[in-house]
Amino acid sequence: MLTRTFFSLIILVLFTFSTSIGASGDPVRAENGMVVSASKLASDIGIEILKKGGNAIDAAVATGFALAVAYPTAGNLGGGGFMVIHLADSLNTTIDFREKAPKNAFRDMYLDSNGVYLPELGREGFTSSGVPGSVEGLLYALNHYGTMKIHEVIEPAIKLAEEGIVLEYRLAESISSNTNRFLEYPSSAKIFTKNGNPYEENDTLIQKDLARALQLISENGRDGFYKGHVAKLIAEHSKKSGGFITEQDLADYQCVERTPIYGYYKGFDIVTMGPPSSGGIAITQALNALENFNWEKSDWNSSEYIHTLVEILKRVYADRAEHLGDVDYYPVPVDWLTSKLYAQEIVTGIADTATPSEKVNPGIPIPEESEETTHYSVVDKYGNAVSTTVTLNSSYGNKIVVEGAGFLMNNEMDDFSAKPGTPNQFGLLGSEANSIEPGKRMLSSMTPTIVLKQGKPYFVTGSPGGSTIITVVLQTILNVIDFEMDVEQTLYAPRIHHQWMPDKIYFEEYGLSKDVIENLERRGHIMGNIRVLGRAEGILIFDDYFTGTTDPRGYGKASGY
Ligand code: GLY
Repeated sequence: MLTRTFFSLIILVLFTFSTSIGASGDPVRAENGMVVSASKLASDIGIEILKKGGNAIDAAVATGFALAVAYPTAGNLGGGGFMVIHLADSLNTTIDFREKAPKNAFRDMYLDSNGVYLPELGREGFTSSGVPGSVEGLLYALNHYGTMKIHEVIEPAIKLAEEGIVLEYRLAESISSNTNRFLEYPSSAKIFTKNGNPYEENDTLIQKDLARALQLISENGRDGFYKGHVAKLIAEHSKKSGGFITEQDLADYQCVERTPIYGYYKGFDIVTMGPPSSGGIAITQALNALENFNWEKSDWNSSEYIHTLVEILKRVYADRAEHLGDVDYYPVPVDWLTSKLYAQEIVTGIADTATPSEKVNPGIPIPEESEETTHYSVVDKYGNAVSTTVTLNSSYGNKIVVEGAGFLMNNEMDDFSAKPGTPNQFGLLGSEANSIEPGKRMLSSMTPTIVLKQGKPYFVTGSPGGSTIITVVLQTILNVIDFEMDVEQTLYAPRIHHQWMPDKIYFEEYGLSKDVIENLERRGHIMGNIRVLGRAEGILIFDDYFTGTTDPRGYGKASGY
């Protein structure tokens, strides 16, 4: 099935680039509002909220709750995320609802008595879960920046869970490919298998326990999740499975409203997420360095462009490994990393040939991150824009449905540097900045971003993809600003990825020609394997209309009206 999916992608990419580069493609166009997410059902729910007069924040919250039902792969109540908001009155802000380490967590919790790292403890079972933040984050956004009541934005999600969703083939395939994992946990098998058998296309997935949990949130706000029935169910399941989350951890959980990371690139303002995301700092660093280069449209994916991008990315990811973590626990040098002066240092270090990664800041390599996350972008007719990325970390998190509560738990603890210097599941390395401490947030790559033109939203973007999120979001921005692509071309265009360690350029099928690859190799670059990179959800905003596209690598929808 992946072959079929990827084949479709290739056809789309070839079509786009052979017939319409520079011409307008066929993105969804609308005048009043737009929601682009990984789920058709969730995007349509967001649009209904806008049609009822809600603003982009109301729609984003409704979409977020709907994704928890309709896109259980990464949409969630049991995980966390980041939201970047631009309000029509010019205020820019971000909401950090990243999961936190439970109070009983400790630095060496995933090491045995000999100091040997036991990765499965941080990736599987209840030991891998951080304290979830999604419910708190969505409700905080609604209460501070929305206009509607909780029950209005959550009702459509309750209905989806109660009445069921008909599984389109790619979601059915995604759930069924995890059947054996779900069967390890009776509470998960009850929801995500059909009496022990895999789900199939056009089956209906009914989630009654999840509907009840959503109903409790609708009636009691954050207390419907962080206190009482649901909190008890989480804490009991955690305790009986050797996990660390207690009712107190849940009662104490708070999201944080943080000042965004601001960048300025070739006349555009970039509003993006700061720590505990590494993404905002990383793309700002990269854009500051890239500002020193000018590209023609015909330079797109040339060897000179890829060489420059990769050399910058090596340095950015090396800094990520060394310096980034939760700012509430570690003094991240944000101003220095995002300064134009430091970008000059990066640029000065770039030669005509590849600098081997081991010679780029021999710091501590980076831990890996899950690629299964999900992003959604929302704009309204009032001038508000919201860019949100949420995650359970791996697909379906740790695959454990909380008994009686109907939702999956995250395995986000793996995003900490469990043993500084040892790679995580995505090969990323980390340092002391991202070591485990009680109550600390694990480092993320999620990069929800809003690009402003003359102070107004111009491009809303973001993507899943673990450590590749940063390079994917960066390339969507470069495609729009430097290469003047429309939103469809931007999202369809093949991507590359380099994260310093391993020292390899990963690339998408048809993304790099043989000549370009040979040129890069001549310059000392090492080519990695072909892989699919990200699933961005983008909206490009013009004076009197919006254009939006869901990434062809996924199966979402741009919904507009
Ligand atoms: N779990 C993926 C990320 O937060 O970047």
